[in-house]
Amino acid sequence: MSYADVYQSWTSDPEAFWMEAAGAIDWARPPSRALDDSNAPLYEWFTDGMVNTCYNAVDRHVENGRGDQIAIIHDSPVTGTVRKISYVELRNRVAMLAGALRAKGVEKGDRVIIYMPMIPEALEAMLACARLGAIHSVVFGGFAAHELAVRIDDAKPKAIIAASCGIEPGRVVHYKPLLDGAIEQAHHKPDFCVIFQREQEVAHLEEGRDVSWHGFQFGVEPAECVPVEGNHPAYILYTSGTTGAPKGVVRPTAGHLVALNWTMKNIYDVDPGDVFWAASDVGWVVGHSYICYGPLIAGNTTIVFEGKPVGTPDAGTFWRVISDHKVKSFFTAPTAFRAVKREDPKGEYLKKYDISCLKKIYLAGERADPDTINWAKDKTGLPIIDHWWQTETGWAIAANPAGIEMLDIKVGSPSVAMPGYDVQILDEAGHPMKPGELGAIAVKLPLPPGTLPTLWNAEERFRKSYLTTFPGYYETGDAGMVDGDGYLYIMARTDDVINVAGHRLSTGAMEEVLASHTDVAECAVIGVTDELKGQLPLGFVCLTKGVNRPYDEITAECVKLIRDQIGPVAAFKLAVVVDRLPKTRSGKILRATMVKIADSESFKMPATIDDPEILDEIAEALKSIGYARDKTPA
Ligand code: COA
Ligand code: AMP
Repeated sequence: MSYADVYQSWTSDPEAFWMEAAGAIDWARPPSRALDDSNAPLYEWFTDGMVNTCYNAVDRHVENGRGDQIAIIHDSPVTGTVRKISYVELRNRVAMLAGALRAKGVEKGDRVIIYMPMIPEALEAMLACARLGAIHSVVFGGFAAHELAVRIDDAKPKAIIAASCGIEPGRVVHYKPLLDGAIEQAHHKPDFCVIFQREQEVAHLEEGRDVSWHGFQFGVEPAECVPVEGNHPAYILYTSGTTGAPKGVVRPTAGHLVALNWTMKNIYDVDPGDVFWAASDVGWVVGHSYICYGPLIAGNTTIVFEGKPVGTPDAGTFWRVISDHKVKSFFTAPTAFRAVKREDPKGEYLKKYDISCLKKIYLAGERADPDTINWAKDKTGLPIIDHWWQTETGWAIAANPAGIEMLDIKVGSPSVAMPGYDVQILDEAGHPMKPGELGAIAVKLPLPPGTLPTLWNAEERFRKSYLTTFPGYYETGDAGMVDGDGYLYIMARTDDVINVAGHRLSTGAMEEVLASHTDVAECAVIGVTDELKGQLPLGFVCLTKGVNRPYDEITAECVKLIRDQIGPVAAFKLAVVVDRLPKTRSGKILRATMVKIADSESFKMPATIDDPEILDEIAEALKSIGYARDKTPA
């Protein structure tokens, strides 16, 4: 069947399409129907089925004769180790961990926060929760204690599973003090914490609260898989919204299983037994879907890579891992290739490795710029497949369905809508736009299986954030267009979310932190263009009257404040003091105009601007830190 046939088969009978896809999952009780629209516009999938995620990702492969196949390869250039775990070992390890969690009172529906680096134990912790029907929430290691505390207060976990440390090039990240700090800041307190002690650092355990990963499994009974309802939340993953309060995206169990399983062959073109590698982090949605669940559900070997594209030890790391472990499909963020390209523009490192095992390269997480795509294609001779999705959807909205049919690649486009997604470009009034016209990208409801049904404890926020602007549609928050062949082009965000090295961050959250500085009266954070990371945050601060200290001192404090409150991942290093911020007459800060000035792009003077002269002051301030180089405001 061609892509057009498959898409058409979904359009003509979505129910039959998803019921057929559900046939590839092992159910404790098969669902009698796919879509549950009884609470529209909130939709759910496979609600009357009973199923367990861990069973489908681990146990069933052992029962089907894949027990000796490697499930997880931990390749860790930062520690100089490689470790392999077979499916049968994984089953045994996860069953013991789940048994130990159960013995300490963790049950179906309880939340468990996981704060771990890129080690197999992070996946084991996720799977152990899934085994019990407990709802995990993984927090990325690059977030600071405050961000962790915010998530603890929202998810209210019974337990937290953490590692003693993470390893970044050149430094050990001490997780334990961050965890202790977060628990101290949070109003909610977990019953207990499980600490995985790494060789590189043994953390102090708090008596009465902390248990060691190994110690607490001693003598427990392994746990069996607990079947849960199809709409039972498998996990909560927090992502940036427009304010400092992150959104808790809920992932429903059955839809997640069905959709991810469908994507492994149809999008990523891998069969059971093939090696699949997503070079991301378990703290992000890519890590959830394509380091942990997707490849394991489909019976692939997945790679947990603890390193960076460059510097661990060099720009040949990606090629080395692909060659050593016979990776068939590889997924990373464009920024990672930009980093490799910067260090090895001629692809000299690539020549050292035989990567003939690799068939396709996938990019997502941010806009894939044509230079990067062309460089990767030129150097590897492989198809470079851009695809577009979000934490909210959990899998690709648009992609090149390489396992069905490899469509022509149009550089700059993540190709076409996947079955399940009726993607529309809408104008401000919600009317469909013509091909080639730029508008808001929306998806006609219902969204397909595996996508978010709501936000954790925040149904109103869910409705307001996604369903209200265009009734009957899900608002993606991205703007773009479609061409005459149905290829999508994703151009920009329509909100205050920025994308730094493939990491989604909220400028609003950063503004809240800057505003808490005693000398800051007012502030604005924008995302400026960066050659390596795509975007970088840049803060403007206006000082409280009477403050008379060196500006450098204040901006350095601002940088430190964001690092301490949000974390190093925010990569907030640019701050500048200005007298005033440009605003509309109604008081709205003109962030988009400031972005254009910083990026030296031409812009139209906003008709509603209160005082155009402020833009000159902004340009001068930006020049002092190396931005707004080429043009002054019109
Ligand atoms: N724990 C603690 N700190 C972390 C961390 C983690 N898990 N991940 C990143 N950080 C820190 C880094 O050490 C760095 O700190 P620094 O300011 O002290 O140098 C900061 O957060 C920014 O990290 P990063 O974005 O990784 O930037 P970098 O300059 O170290 O590396 C790239 C640049 C392009 C190599 C890197 O961003 C990269 O590999 N990107 C790929 C992105 C990706 O996989 N995205 C996932 C979505 S698909
Ligand atoms: P996240 O939820 O962190 O995965 O970020 C999702 C956002 O990243 C999307 O809404 C887009 O703004 C951006 N994004 C992800 N993939 C792409 C892509 N292939 N092209 C352009 N933007 C992308």
